[in-house]
Amino acid sequence: MQLSSLLLLALASLTHAYNLPAFGLRGGSNDRARSAVNGRAAAPTMASGGLKVIICGAPASGKGTQCELLKEQYGLVHLSTGDMLRAAVKDGTEVGLKAKEAMESGKLVSDDIIIGIVKDRLAESDCKSNGWLLDGFPRTEAQAKELEAAGIVPDKVLYLEVPDDMLIERVVGRRLDPETGKIYHVKYFPPESDEVAARLTQRADDTEEKARVRLEQFHSNMKAVESCYAGNIVKFDGTTKKEQVFDNLKKCLDEIK
Ligand code: AP5
Repeated sequence: MQLSSLLLLALASLTHAYNLPAFGLRGGSNDRARSAVNGRAAAPTMASGGLKVIICGAPASGKGTQCELLKEQYGLVHLSTGDMLRAAVKDGTEVGLKAKEAMESGKLVSDDIIIGIVKDRLAESDCKSNGWLLDGFPRTEAQAKELEAAGIVPDKVLYLEVPDDMLIERVVGRRLDPETGKIYHVKYFPPESDEVAARLTQRADDTEEKARVRLEQFHSNMKAVESCYAGNIVKFDGTTKKEQVFDNLKKCLDEIK
């Protein structure tokens, strides 16, 4: 075997052994999608095969913010359906073309588009070995039932509760760093430097008008999703500081052995 092949093999096994991000998937990407599908291990997971967690809540309730912390803590693969769909729209894929109109108007993408993508992704080896953190799915009863039918059962469903008025303020003030994928807020989490501030972007659906449509979609579906996970869903006050919310989520997950 040539020296270059040996070096590549050694690098690949190091990447696997330490659960490092795969090349080409992190850094310089335009949104959270790359990191969203590419969990990083910062601490060992507790359950064998890793934790299986669903995080849900209304638009801007803090799911993405908490996922940044949870994936660092538990080394889970973060799967955000919103990020996956935005990446598909941006890349102009078939899925993206189908999803674009619904997303731009604040409505949900049809179940048949999103269910297959999520099931396929959860079947991949990194999700099986590291565990996963599903953010923004299931959002309808049909999606929850499809997961159940496929034998995909979460260890815990975390539900962030935030009143609607506060959600609107969070939506319109949200900004994203296209380079790091980090989530900011003009008031609550302003950027650390002028350099970062200059490159921040705003999501096309982060207007008050679209946020109200998204909230309506959320309220008309969430009860049914909740009842699919009765007994395994835990509600958290999402209005406190993000560190406090994270502490509470962590306490809950640390109880799972
Ligand atoms: P998606 O991207 O999932 O959007 P969402 O559910 O509306 O959630 P957000 O990403 O808006 O908010 P978040 O809860 O992650 O909040 P964040 O942490 O950023 O979906 C987008 C679209 O894709 C949908 O409308 C739909 O069209 C489609 N889609 C996705 N999944 C689908 C599915 N399963 N089925 C069908 N369609 C689907 O925080 C928000 C802001 O608040 C930030 O600025 C943050 O800094 C701030 N903040 C966070 N925590 C705190 C805190 N504790 N205190 C103060 N500010 C805080």
